[in-house]
Amino acid sequence: MIFNKIKSIKFKIFFAYSAISIIGVFFFNAVLYYSAKQDYREDTIKALKSISRDVIVDDIEGKNLKNSMKFASHKYKFSIDNVYIQARYKDKIVLKSANMKNFEFPRYKFSQQSTIVEAKFENVSKYDFIIYSTKVFRKRDYVLQIGTTTRAEKIELNEIIEKMLMGDPLIIFIILVILYKMLQDIIKPMNTIIETAEHISITDLDKRIPYTDNGDEFAQLAKTFNKMLSRLQTSFAQIKRFSADASHQLKTPLTSMRIQTDIALKTDRKNEEYKVVLKSVNDEIIYLQNMINNLFMLAQMDDEIIKQNFKQIDLDIVLMNAVEEFVLVANKKGVSLDIKEIEHTVINAEDTLISILCSNLIDNAIKYTPLSKNISIELKDSKITIEDEGIGIEEKNLQAIFDRFFREDSNKLKSVKGFGLGLSMVKMIADIHGATINIESKIGIGTKIEIQFTT
Ligand SMILES: Nc1ncnc2c1ncn2[C@@H]1O[C@H](COP(=O)(O)OP(=O)(O)O)[C@@H](O)[C@H]1O
Ligand SMILES: [Mg+2]
Repeated sequence: MIFNKIKSIKFKIFFAYSAISIIGVFFFNAVLYYSAKQDYREDTIKALKSISRDVIVDDIEGKNLKNSMKFASHKYKFSIDNVYIQARYKDKIVLKSANMKNFEFPRYKFSQQSTIVEAKFENVSKYDFIIYSTKVFRKRDYVLQIGTTTRAEKIELNEIIEKMLMGDPLIIFIILVILYKMLQDIIKPMNTIIETAEHISITDLDKRIPYTDNGDEFAQLAKTFNKMLSRLQTSFAQIKRFSADASHQLKTPLTSMRIQTDIALKTDRKNEEYKVVLKSVNDEIIYLQNMINNLFMLAQMDDEIIKQNFKQIDLDIVLMNAVEEFVLVANKKGVSLDIKEIEHTVINAEDTLISILCSNLIDNAIKYTPLSKNISIELKDSKITIEDEGIGIEEKNLQAIFDRFFREDSNKLKSVKGFGLGLSMVKMIADIHGATINIESKIGIGTKIEIQFTT
């Protein structure tokens, strides 16, 4: 179908509406034409009836029927086209108007007072005749027949058709012009969307589609499209950061492994020496694996998707599960875990992320707390508090510790293992859950971290 071949929605709608309005105009014309025809026919019949009444009344008043007929045919000559009058007595025609020399109206059988018949007399007129036959009231055997042709009606109706044929194209043209203008306005936002979308590339994902928020489908489309763009933008930024972080962080361990293996392969060595190198490379690989996992976790955090998975969780249970995981590690290191009040708390959250948050905080507390010192853990008023008697954090670093890959210099000296990613994960998780972080720390005395959730 041609309709499917039209590429533009605008023209599709235009085409459909044009067809509908043209059909509408013609339908309207048809109704107009037929009601005009009906009106005209009614008028004709009314005139025929009134002529017949005149003729009969004249007759009743005692005048000569012939005269009154003459008079009537004369009288109505101008108001009704070609009036033909004829009177029958039983089967015989007793009177005829002058213009009926060549023919006669047949006798129509009818039981009522009168009847109307449409008939054709081709040798008289090419037009149809409308014949009104009525019984003369007093002289019951007399039938008066008055007829006229549809010539005037036809002429009048032809005129109407002519006017319509002249007027219709103009009306249709005006409708189409208005329609086209309206469509242009309606479709305009669509073109803006197409144009903007066409020009957005990976380097300018910050571009947005301009729209007026009138709530229509186009505004919704633009809104949805913009939302999709921001999601793409975040994802893309995350991927970019992931690859930058990964390549940056991978360099050092990879170089170290390369150097170790290069040296090992230079000459033949004893088994013991190979073992040492393999052990070292193995350590580096484990380190790399852990780091990649962490980086990956950070990169995958998409606020929108995570928030969709929020559900009511028991914070106390998640926290205690995390604590349990570290009991052995703490024992091994000779650090005691002191569980204070753990209040039953229900929050709206993503449980694996909350578990990661708790683990990271406990991990840090154990890592940065020396032998025989104490760590206390508490959950009260939707607030997790983890306090240690560890090495503490320098005041100038209290903000920086939440940055990716940030680690205090003292760690490196003391060879405490880590990537500097734990707290940045904690920060991200807290942000997604609308939780606030408070940190207090004194060098050599200890650190207190509080995570305040909302219920
Ligand atoms: N409880 C703590 N006591 C002392 N220092 C801490 C504590 N928690 C974090 N830090 C400091 O913040 C830095 C960043 O922590 P984090 O992001 O968890 O990385 P990582 O533990 O891998 O070093 C740590 O390297 C350490 O210097
Ligand atoms: Mg850590």
